[in-house]
Amino acid sequence: MKRNEFLKTSTILGSASVLPPNNVFSQSLKETGMDKLTDANGNFALQPLPYAETFLEPSMDQETVHLHYTFHHGDAVKAANKDLEMVKKSIDENSLDTVDYWTKKLSFHLSSHILHTIFWTSLTNKKGSPGGELLKQVEKDFSSFDKLKTLIAKTSKGVDGNGWGILGYQPYTKKLTVLQCENHEKLTQWGVIPLLVIDVWEHSYYLKYRNRRAEFVDNLFPIINWENVADRFNIARKIS
Ligand SMILES: [Fe+2]
Repeated sequence: MKRNEFLKTSTILGSASVLPPNNVFSQSLKETGMDKLTDANGNFALQPLPYAETFLEPSMDQETVHLHYTFHHGDAVKAANKDLEMVKKSIDENSLDTVDYWTKKLSFHLSSHILHTIFWTSLTNKKGSPGGELLKQVEKDFSSFDKLKTLIAKTSKGVDGNGWGILGYQPYTKKLTVLQCENHEKLTQWGVIPLLVIDVWEHSYYLKYRNRRAEFVDNLFPIINWENVADRFNIARKIS
């Protein structure tokens, strides 16, 4: 099936979700198979959080969610719009000496917008675990769910500086893969579709956990939204 056909006709996400059905994040993923990153004018836009700011407590406190979503994610969205505008301006005004700078900035800020958008849907407030086709793939690629958890935890905790631990689907090999992403855009494999992302920038945990990143990561595991990961896995396999 071609990507466009799939996006129009996707009905694979019929299972009940723990996220509110009227939320733009979850609604967009269900209806189109894509995360909603832009507004009606095509500008990058911050969508409403898929839950109340207190929803992830006690694993993630309200103040951290508020600051993280409003300012760290929100500012990345604003910056990505500016970066894109400046790339266009550089071309229009033939001032190509600045295009290198703005292109790098756009990569950083848009990657931040993409990963944060996925991040909010990667978490929920009830315990779960992968099942069905996702679990089969996990066992095929990592031997067991426990081994995958160990790998994701180790990878996330070990990021040098700020970054992300990412479980993704690599369409070229048809396998799941775990990435250790620095900043928002480094150390990827081309083609990988993120399914689950763990933000280990200090802004993600420092208010509550101080320097204890490992404890923060361990406390996220019980609230990973495996239904959402499975939805993303199903989409990734069908569009690739
Ligand atoms: Fe973040």
